[in-house]
Amino acid sequence: MTMRSAPTHTESSSESKRPKVDAPQGKLGVLLPGLGAVATTFIAGCLLARRGLGQPFGSITQLGTIRLGKRNEGRVPRISDFVPLAGLSDLVFGTWDIFPDDALTVARESKVIEERHISPIADELGKIVPMAGAFYQEDVKRLRGTHVKAARNKAEMVEQLREDIRRFKREQGVERAVAVWCGSTERFVEPNAAHQSIESFEKALAANDASITGSALYAWACLQERVPFANGAPNLSVDFPAAWELARERNVAIAGKDFKTGQTLMKTVLAPAFKARALGLSGWFSTNILGNRDGEVLDEPENFHSKEVSKLGVLEHILEPERYPSLYGEMYHKVRIEYYPPRGDAKEGWDNIDIFGWLGYPMQIKIDFLCRDSILAAPLVLDLALFMDLAQRANLSGIQEWLSFFFKSPMHRADLYPEHDLFIQSMKLKNTLRWLMGEELITHLGRDYYD
Ligand SMILES: NC(=O)c1ccc[n+]([C@@H]2O[C@H](COP(=O)([O-])OP(=O)(O)OC[C@H]3O[C@@H](n4cnc5c(N)ncnc54)[C@H](O)[C@@H]3O)[C@@H](O)[C@H]2O)c1
Repeated sequence: MTMRSAPTHTESSSESKRPKVDAPQGKLGVLLPGLGAVATTFIAGCLLARRGLGQPFGSITQLGTIRLGKRNEGRVPRISDFVPLAGLSDLVFGTWDIFPDDALTVARESKVIEERHISPIADELGKIVPMAGAFYQEDVKRLRGTHVKAARNKAEMVEQLREDIRRFKREQGVERAVAVWCGSTERFVEPNAAHQSIESFEKALAANDASITGSALYAWACLQERVPFANGAPNLSVDFPAAWELARERNVAIAGKDFKTGQTLMKTVLAPAFKARALGLSGWFSTNILGNRDGEVLDEPENFHSKEVSKLGVLEHILEPERYPSLYGEMYHKVRIEYYPPRGDAKEGWDNIDIFGWLGYPMQIKIDFLCRDSILAAPLVLDLALFMDLAQRANLSGIQEWLSFFFKSPMHRADLYPEHDLFIQSMKLKNTLRWLMGEELITHLGRDYYD
């Protein structure tokens, strides 16, 4: 675990100078490496919502509000009316995949949304055809890509991806673009010497270093093209010193990792509650059954390990066993994902939570979350695309910690610990928006109502 620093609420207002936020002009390109269940559900939802044929539930940029000023002022605008965000009708989608199927075919095959939601937008979906992917078999053993680029080495692969980005922007007439990784979870990789600086990473690209996975090539290409990159999977992609350095040097926003959608969302709601009430935890067993392609990929131990690491960090960081040994020092945390094809995208997640209270008496909580994986993830893709574009227009480069709210394994400065508690994350996100727009930050002190 990394060293802890002062709590978040004391890190706020005077931190840095408030940037000027440029207005969104023209169209926004949304680049999605990985045109699978999440990406097609996201695109379809945006197309439906902009025609008034569906509601973007789950998206805080579309439905969330933000309180401004005192509680008795009654100023609670929608987030979309408060900060200058790109509109749904401004979005233009570009994708890559290692299979050539268009978004219509993938949406039908993924069986996430029904035909009544597909047929009104079938023409538009059919026109979204993925560019060939940058793919190395060893990264995702369960997939045999047929629509892949050939290159002499990884540096050349990055150049091809950069050319794809430039061509997409030119052909679509977009000035700005953002990327959200919706591709598969890759095998677990730890940063090594190659990942430490821009120079070492570029050398390793040219040398075809095996520790650089496909997703990192997209990320590197995006940074070079000044396209903000958000990572929806636990892959290393953009979370290592060389990428942080390049993001600062090129003045580009980065964020990740791994969309926080189902079981981990619940964990980061409940664990802070136990800690706030000084209730003990002796064990938390989480298991899932999942039958989509993501589930198939995660059935491979090397790929599951990436997800496992991402899911396991949450409790340690929230509950701080070293600080509360009697409450959390003995906790046992286990996470399983079982590939079970009949369920498709309709994941079922079970949690058994063993807690204890006054005098050590044990109690249990059971959660059975019958969720829909891509239905939960799609609104996060939208919010991340719009907020990353906002960050870029506000000149906020490097790690966007205020977007931790959306991630299982939030990226953070190396000497800080990640903020996992959903309520701290939400406060951080909203205070960042207030700060960007020159509004007072909210501390929830509230003494002045009574003085
Ligand atoms: N749905 C959720 O709730 C959720 C939550 C957290 C994270 N995620 C992550 O989001 C990602 C997408 O999930 P999904 O359900 O859409 O999976 P999916 O398998 O349906 O789609 C992933 C797509 O990525 C493609 N792909 C793999 N490697 C690629 C590469 N190098 N270049 C281009 N394309 C590539 C695959 O061919 C596939 O079409 C996964 O990594 C998943 O773990 C999903």
